[in-house]
Amino acid sequence: MIHPVDLIERKRNGEELPADELAEFVLAYARDEVPEYQMAAWCMAVYFKGLTPAETLALTDAMVRSGETVALGAAIGRKVVDKHSTGGVGDKTSIAVGPIVAACGVPLGKMSGRGLGHTGGTLDKLESIPGFRVELTTEEMIAQLRDVGVAIVGQSANLVPADKKLYALRDVTATVDIVPLIASSIMSKKLAAGGDAVVLDIKVGDGAWMKTLEDARVLAHEMLDLGLRAGMEVTCLLTDMDQPLGRAIGNALEIREAIDTVRGAGPDDFTELVLDASARLLAYSDLGIDVDEGRRRAETAVADGSAYATYERWIRAQGGDPDPHALPEAPVRLAVTAPRDGVVARLGALAVGVAVLELGAGRWTTTDTIDLAVGAVCFAKRGDTVLAGDDLAEVHARDEASAQVAVDAILAAYTIADAAPAARGIVLEVIS
Ligand code: URA
Repeated sequence: MIHPVDLIERKRNGEELPADELAEFVLAYARDEVPEYQMAAWCMAVYFKGLTPAETLALTDAMVRSGETVALGAAIGRKVVDKHSTGGVGDKTSIAVGPIVAACGVPLGKMSGRGLGHTGGTLDKLESIPGFRVELTTEEMIAQLRDVGVAIVGQSANLVPADKKLYALRDVTATVDIVPLIASSIMSKKLAAGGDAVVLDIKVGDGAWMKTLEDARVLAHEMLDLGLRAGMEVTCLLTDMDQPLGRAIGNALEIREAIDTVRGAGPDDFTELVLDASARLLAYSDLGIDVDEGRRRAETAVADGSAYATYERWIRAQGGDPDPHALPEAPVRLAVTAPRDGVVARLGALAVGVAVLELGAGRWTTTDTIDLAVGAVCFAKRGDTVLAGDDLAEVHARDEASAQVAVDAILAAYTIADAAPAARGIVLEVIS
């Protein structure tokens, strides 16, 4: 029998909690036997005192045990790979990576979430495709992985229910940005969802949970450690989220950009991340190849059209219309123009993410409805030279008034300077 007050007090005082007590606490919370206010107080104690590696492991293990687990690789008789991001602005990477690795013969099965706050969610993006079904049963997902090689679906209600509850609570109690809680939240879902290997994209910068490379490294090592203990192969890519990824931010706009990228016409930074993540996933597969060969195969799949053909098969398999012309379009478009000549020194990811959220593309709370067509396309990115009056970006809005607000906010997100900033690639570090 656990006593939540005692556990909160001991964590507040900086004690390490025994694994069995911690597990019982989390499982009781998942069964609604611990009130939200006590779990909230415990999370805040963790914010200040942290968790030891043993506690993080016990928490992760309990979260996995709170619901069902699947073994996708065992079900289809081949290694299944997965990809996950800690969340950013303009991040549609999985939507392009899935068909590329599947075109190379490697199944990618992924359970995704919805967007919250300034970070978008893969499920919302996919739902901007007319007819697309995010809710597949596990049997349907397995069949689709066998037939098409890619399935991206919503997290089933029975998978890691403890995390579902805890993440929602953390979101409204300022306790999301805690490294061991993020690590256990993400890794519990990866472990329960049954992939054999995963590439974790840890975003670093003002639009990410991890603001510094140092924090991102700590998170990477915690997740690698959890993966290792569970026998899952994990690579962490630490990637730049000081500016939006690619050009498009907003659900349907991002799907268009993912399609362009799968067809070989995507923006440079996004293309680089997609090919890098794809190469590493291919190296983890049953193909028996290294990352360099993985890169060559990923590039070939894009160049010869097989990645796009796989995209079309995948979208149709989940009930959607793969034609980019079928995507919803916002009625109002307004340009953001450069106020002076110069070089883009900065384009704040957080500011752009919030501007797009305010347009209606995202949600402040989990019950908000979203506008799938609105968003922004940032043509000018860090290091680009611009002339006064050039289009820096274009806002896609439901009406003129909201468009104008977004134009002002996105203009304020740009810093135009005389000198070019130091060049920086999209992948900042690889830890595996
Ligand atoms: N993404 C998750 O799934 N969990 C977190 O705690 C943070 C980001």
